[in-house]
Amino acid sequence: MEHLVINGQKQLFGDVFISGAKNAVVAIIPAAIMANGKCVIENLPNIEDVTSLVDTLTNIGVKCEFTEENTLIVDSSNITGYCAAYESVRKIRASYYLMGAFLGRFKKAEVAMPGGCNFGTRPIDQHLKGFKALGAEYTISHGIVKLSAEKLVGSNIYLDMPSVGATINIMLAASMAEGVTVIENAAKEPHIVDTANFLNMLGAKVKGAGTDVIKITGVSELHGAEYMIIPDQIEAGTYMIAAAIAGGDVTVRNVIPKHMDPLSAKLQDMGCVIYEGDDSIRIVSTGNLRPTNVKTMTYPGFPTDLQPQMTALLCIADGTSILTENVWNNRFQYINELKRLGGNITVEGRVAVVEGVKQLMGAEVNATDLRAGAALVIAGLAAKGTTTIGNIKYIDRGYEKIEEKLTKIGADIKRVKSERI
Ligand code: EPZ
Repeated sequence: MEHLVINGQKQLFGDVFISGAKNAVVAIIPAAIMANGKCVIENLPNIEDVTSLVDTLTNIGVKCEFTEENTLIVDSSNITGYCAAYESVRKIRASYYLMGAFLGRFKKAEVAMPGGCNFGTRPIDQHLKGFKALGAEYTISHGIVKLSAEKLVGSNIYLDMPSVGATINIMLAASMAEGVTVIENAAKEPHIVDTANFLNMLGAKVKGAGTDVIKITGVSELHGAEYMIIPDQIEAGTYMIAAAIAGGDVTVRNVIPKHMDPLSAKLQDMGCVIYEGDDSIRIVSTGNLRPTNVKTMTYPGFPTDLQPQMTALLCIADGTSILTENVWNNRFQYINELKRLGGNITVEGRVAVVEGVKQLMGAEVNATDLRAGAALVIAGLAAKGTTTIGNIKYIDRGYEKIEEKLTKIGADIKRVKSERI
């Protein structure tokens, strides 16, 4: 059983190179199977979610070859089917994108209900509403979603809420429907734009991604393409928050500063100094931080995927902060682990009130999901003494070489491959 061991209170100095966006690549790899021909996907993050997806596709005859650590060739010429069993998809939530991709290519799909992080209910009713609007019928039995359509016909779909997954999944299927599909109340996250750009490189006709109205004109065939994944907004934000809590002078590189605006603004509110370059952001922090209030919203609001990391930071602010989680109905399960490190937090429904403390204290804790794990790393960097973090398989799902990247900027963090010390 692996875990991370952190000796806290080291200031951080230097450069962190950000990897490709997890939430883009878990949509783009499924999208690639709709193409007749080879796709070369560059700037792929070397993370567990990618490995899981590649294993799933290999099982159905898709040729996946890493030409370098971060470059993958996907060739679906000999794909043998449109099924993804529970065993291969249970580890990642984003397996649901296979529904849209299989439906687009085969007009059929059999995909196990998604697994993934264990916070809040994670329904897919909006995905299914979109597929139905395109002409697909579905059944759900024994945990498998079975979809089929004589043909897919473009339609107008108004999402009940701006769901990232539903927006992308409908975009995938609609790319190969007959006629025009309009998605209204669409989500606008950077990874949606990245997936749309990739689809268009394959010959799809997607317009308006990044706004709340996306228009897709279906085509009968998609071809291969080369594509570079955008930088990971959430990974970048995680290291920016690490610099803020530990104190020091850190530059995150290979980022799109615009994507970081909601976080940069908050860190400045708290007393950090932020310098923006073309593809980098420098954060200077004394570690003495003012409290602030945060409300998570869909993009371009403050990202829910930085909520746990931000809560960890607020634990050492000089005063009381209020954090409201507006996207998920139960994304505070990690709070008890932060309390073990000395955090003074009370949760009421979707609101966490964080009373800043002078000092966090190292302890044994366990990650409860991907971003919660990142939050515990951040808290461990500031805590006095040693923090050991278990269940780091969650962290490996979305962070490439986290201990290497932190060690390079001065953190004392090691991956230990034995029972807890
Ligand atoms: C994506 O999840 C991300 N995952 C999540 O990141 C992220 O937290 C979320 O978007 C919000 O930004 C991937 O991209 C792989 P949603 P997704 O559909 O698509 C409700 C991470 O840490 N909803 O935008 O599943 C839902 O319950 C992960 O990288 C429905 O009610 O999120 C939630 O309250 C964690 N019905 C809200 O909408 C649906 O059919 C937002 O969900 C779909 C969603």
